[in-house]
Amino acid sequence: MGRAKKVVLAYSGGVDTSVCIPYLKEEWGVEEVITLAADLGQGDELEPIRKKALKSGAAQSLVADATERFIQDYAFPAIQANALYENRYPLSTALARPLIAKLLVEAAEEYGADAVAHGCTGKGNDQVRFDVSIAALNPNLKVLAPAREWGMSREETIAYGEQFGIPSPVKKSSPYSIDRNLLGRSIEAGPLEDPWNEPLEEVFLLTEAIANTPDQPKYVEISFEQGLPVALNGQTLSPVNLISQLNDLAGKHGVGRIDMIENRLVGIKSREIYEAPALLVLIQAHRDLESLTLTADVTHYKRGIEETYSQLVYNGLWYSPLKAALDAFVQQTQVQVSGTVRIKLFKGTALTVGRKSVNSLYTPDLATYGSDDKFDHKAAEGFIYVWGLPTRVWSQKVKG
Ligand code: ARG
Repeated sequence: MGRAKKVVLAYSGGVDTSVCIPYLKEEWGVEEVITLAADLGQGDELEPIRKKALKSGAAQSLVADATERFIQDYAFPAIQANALYENRYPLSTALARPLIAKLLVEAAEEYGADAVAHGCTGKGNDQVRFDVSIAALNPNLKVLAPAREWGMSREETIAYGEQFGIPSPVKKSSPYSIDRNLLGRSIEAGPLEDPWNEPLEEVFLLTEAIANTPDQPKYVEISFEQGLPVALNGQTLSPVNLISQLNDLAGKHGVGRIDMIENRLVGIKSREIYEAPALLVLIQAHRDLESLTLTADVTHYKRGIEETYSQLVYNGLWYSPLKAALDAFVQQTQVQVSGTVRIKLFKGTALTVGRKSVNSLYTPDLATYGSDDKFDHKAAEGFIYVWGLPTRVWSQKVKG
């Protein structure tokens, strides 16, 4: 008896997920492996990948075009939540996992599979995100993770695959481990494992080196409706087009690089390089528009929600009751967040230099230092008397 009869396997076309196909069948007694490759705007050609799965022994090879869903249902809510893990990483990889999990579960239900599988190893965050998301969506499905158990080295994996006609990688494989989708790229391993090593220019693809960026700044106006990005420079764009155009604009000016040591859920510190030009600029612009349209108390309270939200997404709890409750809070706050933010892209920086909204709470009459000032200065005295009362009582007692 095998571990499962029919399995839907998340498939990328790489050696590891390809080797999963014969491994599941030969070692774990799976009768039928159906592969699923998700297009999340990573720029790979899907047709060769689809064929490769069949050559590697898949009974069926599915391709899901999910870029629109990815941006609309996963990236945009995260922008509304200003989601940055450890205040820096905009979760470009993490956001893709709950969607891939959903695609796997949908396919398993459609094709009557009793398990789903993925090629993650046991050291990363992604295995957690897949396993927990799948369990949340359909607790009756088994989750198989062959690469977590097989204990083969890179060379052994390649040799195992060769027995089943899986070609070893043609190019001398890159020392880096790279994940990519429309939101950005995550790069780790190789020389980056030494936190003191500066990343070589070769790791970057979406962002220009400062030395090659234009000598003139570029202004970009980003418009939001209820917290969702809808237009660039006055032109209404679909979510996918908006992200890809802004990736190009910001990347050309060297905006969007991150180099950080982050804390993985499994307890390991890891060195990560990210490129996420559009996503970072959008979060910044969105936050600026919120500062114009939300009251002080909502703004401040939301910061705590954002922190928790980012941790939940990073830690694989996209489909959880707490995440759903936080979503409801965030949605409620976004009703007034409509308007336009002007950003200046120049030499690796994105500066917010203007913002406007029909819902602006900024009140010139109150803020001005000019003669048309409407603020009641005398009222400040009484306010400070009451506000400072506990401090004066304490000071009198201790120091008086
Ligand atoms: N550390 C990031 C995360 O957990 C990215 C991991 C992506 N994988 C990679 N091969 N770089 O979301």
